[in-house]
Formats: sequence, structure tokens, C-alpha cells
Amino acid sequence: MMQIEVISLFPEMFAALTEYGITSRARQRGLYQLTLTNPRQYTQDVHHTVDDRPYGGGPGMVMLAEPLSAAIRDAKARIQAQGITPRVIHLSPRGKPLTHEKVLQLKELPGLVLLTSRYEGVDQRVLDTLVDEEISIGDYVLSGGELPAMVLLDAIIRQLPGALGDADSAQEDSFVNGLLDYPHYTRPEEFAGLKVPDVLLSGHHEKIRQWRLQQSLMLTRAKRPDLLAERPLTKEEARLLKD
Ligand code: ADE
Repeated sequence: MMQIEVISLFPEMFAALTEYGITSRARQRGLYQLTLTNPRQYTQDVHHTVDDRPYGGGPGMVMLAEPLSAAIRDAKARIQAQGITPRVIHLSPRGKPLTHEKVLQLKELPGLVLLTSRYEGVDQRVLDTLVDEEISIGDYVLSGGELPAMVLLDAIIRQLPGALGDADSAQEDSFVNGLLDYPHYTRPEEFAGLKVPDVLLSGHHEKIRQWRLQQSLMLTRAKRPDLLAERPLTKEEARLLKD
């Protein structure tokens, strides 16, 4: 079972992960354990202060090193007590952009500590001493690291063995083959004057496989040519793209 610790000023937000859908079911099945820690618990003053003004001036507040580092250290220690060395990741727009490939690497790790930050940032000394890696979920800025942490965890958890039933498959998703997913159809056979492609009604599994691969290739070429440029085509794929 993957051991996950999250450090957040808003731990309640993670109900989105633990209470709904595949990520909730995976938790019930014991595929991962999630523990939330609020750094506010590690403050000593009456106001439970977690941030302060930046040295050097300027706008915004900076998260204090002391409560944050104490929270991270305890989270790490809980995982280490199980004989696991966790990886400490800070969600930040400064991080390396998240990819499917990165998700597949992270899903193999037995322990993760995710640090989510608010305000303008975190005292650099926390990052220098306790954080192994920074990950971004894209080139835009959110109000805090909670949603990015949930994005990262959702992507990881759905890849854990047993997370997806037969109904949903991680093998057929977009990016699995370095390609975008093919179009899907269900009943009725005609909707808004549009028919389900004949091949999908044919029962001819090999033809259906080829059609889906061709659709994936054509969609990827149209919408994400950068993905095709990174990836050599098999002979079959090259032929399907020409047809
Ligand atoms: N925190 C704020 N914006 C973020 C982003 N784009 N990725 C990761 N963490 C963030």
C-alpha cells in the first residue's frame, strides 16, 4: 500500500479525492493510505501564525519555515517508521511540468510526502533542506498547491494495480501509447443525425482495433502534433495515417 502524506493549510479540500469516485474506492480497497497534516498544528503562538512578511519587502506573505519543516519532518518520520524512505515533493509552478511518464515513475514509489503551499511562497530554506523535487501541473498559477497535489495524486492513484475495474481501463487512455484517445460511442445508434461508425457495429475486432488506432493517430496529428514528433511510427501506424 502506497503511503501518502500531505501537508496543507486546507486539509478538508482533500475530501474531493477521498470521498469521490475511483480515488475513494482505491482508498477503501487499501491501495493507498493518505494522512493529512495542517502546519498550523505546529505553531506555538496564540494566533497560530503560519506566514510572515518577506525579508527585503514586496507584496504577499511567505510561509514560515518552522511550522512547515516540523510538519514535513513528522510526516517523513511516520513513513520511515514503516521502513520506507519517502520522496518529498513540493507542488509549484517552478517545478518540472507533470507528464504521463512522470506519473508512471511516481506510482512505483512506496512513500510520498506532498508539500502544498499558499501565499507567495515558502521560505527557501524549507525547500533547500527538506524537499527532493518540485512538480508543476502546468504553466499557469493557481492560488495554492492543494488542487495541483490532488491532480498529481488522482493521476497516480488511478494507475495503482486494482484501482480501475474492468469497466474503466488505464491501458486505453490518452497518452498510454503516446497518442490521444480514440472517439467513443454508446447507444443510441443515431443521435443528432449522427450515426455510430459502421465498423464499431461490425463485431470485427481486428478492424475495430485498426480503426481506433487510426483515429488516435489522426486526432493526435490534428490536435497534438508535438506528441507525434516525439514518437517513431510503426509500419502499421504509418500506413494507417496515409489511408
Ligand atoms: N501552485 C500554484 N500553481 C501551481 C502549478 N501550476 N503547479 C503546481 N503547483 C502550483
